[in-house]
Amino acid sequence: MNILIITSELDPLTNIGGLGEVTASLSKELQNLGCNVKIVLPFYKNVKTNLQSLNIKPKSIKINITTCIDWLPLNAKVKEVSINGLECYLIENKDLFDRNYIYNAYGYDEGDDDIRFGFFSLCAIELAKSLNFQPDIIHCHDWQTAFVPLFLKWRKHLKDDPFFKLSKIIFTIHNLYYQGEFDKKILEQFGLPEYLFTNQNIELKGKVNLLKAGILFSDLLTTVSETYSKEIINPDFGFGLDRILRRVTQDSNKMYGILNGIDYKLWDPNNDKHIYKNYFIDNIQNKQFNKTKLKEEFNLDQSEDKPIIGVISKLTDQRGIQLIIESLPQIIDLGFQLFILGIGDSKFHKSLLQQKKKFQGNLCLILRQDETIARKVYSGADMILMPSRFEPCGLVQMIALRYGTIPVVRSTGGLVDTVRDYNDNNKPTGFTFKQFSKVNLLDTLIRAITVYEHKNEWKKLIKNAMQEDYSWKVSARKYYDLYEKTINN
Ligand code: GLC
Repeated sequence: MNILIITSELDPLTNIGGLGEVTASLSKELQNLGCNVKIVLPFYKNVKTNLQSLNIKPKSIKINITTCIDWLPLNAKVKEVSINGLECYLIENKDLFDRNYIYNAYGYDEGDDDIRFGFFSLCAIELAKSLNFQPDIIHCHDWQTAFVPLFLKWRKHLKDDPFFKLSKIIFTIHNLYYQGEFDKKILEQFGLPEYLFTNQNIELKGKVNLLKAGILFSDLLTTVSETYSKEIINPDFGFGLDRILRRVTQDSNKMYGILNGIDYKLWDPNNDKHIYKNYFIDNIQNKQFNKTKLKEEFNLDQSEDKPIIGVISKLTDQRGIQLIIESLPQIIDLGFQLFILGIGDSKFHKSLLQQKKKFQGNLCLILRQDETIARKVYSGADMILMPSRFEPCGLVQMIALRYGTIPVVRSTGGLVDTVRDYNDNNKPTGFTFKQFSKVNLLDTLIRAITVYEHKNEWKKLIKNAMQEDYSWKVSARKYYDLYEKTINN
């Protein structure tokens, strides 16, 4: 089975919010299942930097791609690189990708993500042709690559291209909140018919909506957990697309929720080079050593045995950071220590920094993305807090379970599918709460600290958590079966 994965993120070359980890580990498992996988990714500046630090030299290949956008030709060179045995192709255009950021939406306002990712998607399509790689499945991820089904269905010279006649398009929604909304003029720029700009097609709220295009023109949709696939057909989670999703899912079996996994080789407390001492279920006392060391390295007060809560997260509204900030004084008062690691909205950076001094010794704040520190937190913290407003899947809680760090989560999306509450009779693994409110969050933390104080009970929880299996094996198989089913239809 030939599979073309088109993505805007791929770990370890670039990974902002989990998408990169998913495309990398899913591709690897598909390859293990015997698929012939090729991955296409933009050659961003940080890909270059990461390749250098990995000591990998990309190979130039003799393919030059020229596409026409808004009357003028735009060129790309292509580099080839093998990442952990995966064949990757990097689309190089210095003007568009050699920048200090990956997405404009992160506050750097250049406003040309439509051209950048439209161009990237076109190049990915052209590349497959140049390589004579006829995909059985084209697997696209999020709005940045929703251009692909749109172009293959509607762009002049590409629609009905016999090369892709047998290719099926699978489109995965990792986060419905980000939709790629652009001015109508992009239709002309990309050689698409203007009559697509109606509510029956890809218009939404006066804009061209890329995610809507992905939903309408792909052969099959997936989301990254089963619960999320049910949530997004409701107005509360649909962000304007719920009616369309309800419609397409009514017609047939067009949307499936498949839970992400994590790479159990990359996330393994027994074999993690960055943590203070390796451990697993049978020598769990080493986790305590990691805790002591974590406190020491990051200047947390050692005088009492307080439980450490880790927050390893993008600092965004989605992740419930406001709720954490509002509850901070009470969380510390209850006797917790808090370790916050991540980057995000500047308003959250600012209000967290204001609190830093006040809670010195009980609050550690590191406002950047740092995998090495994250690993130390997974291994040394007692709990991981995720009060998300919505969570398509979430990887942090799966890693936490693997490291015996107990998740305290809001019951939404993938968090419902991966964490069982302490009051659940069937092997509980964490603490969950329903209402998105400060009272509920604090009540749940009180429940958690009460159990924490019963050392034997807590050990049982850790054991349950570490016995869970969220590796990719099962989920990759589900994707494989879906691919087969779609091809045979
Ligand atoms: C997005 C979602 C997150 C999910 C990740 C990978 O970042 O917000 O819940 O785990 O994509 O699919």
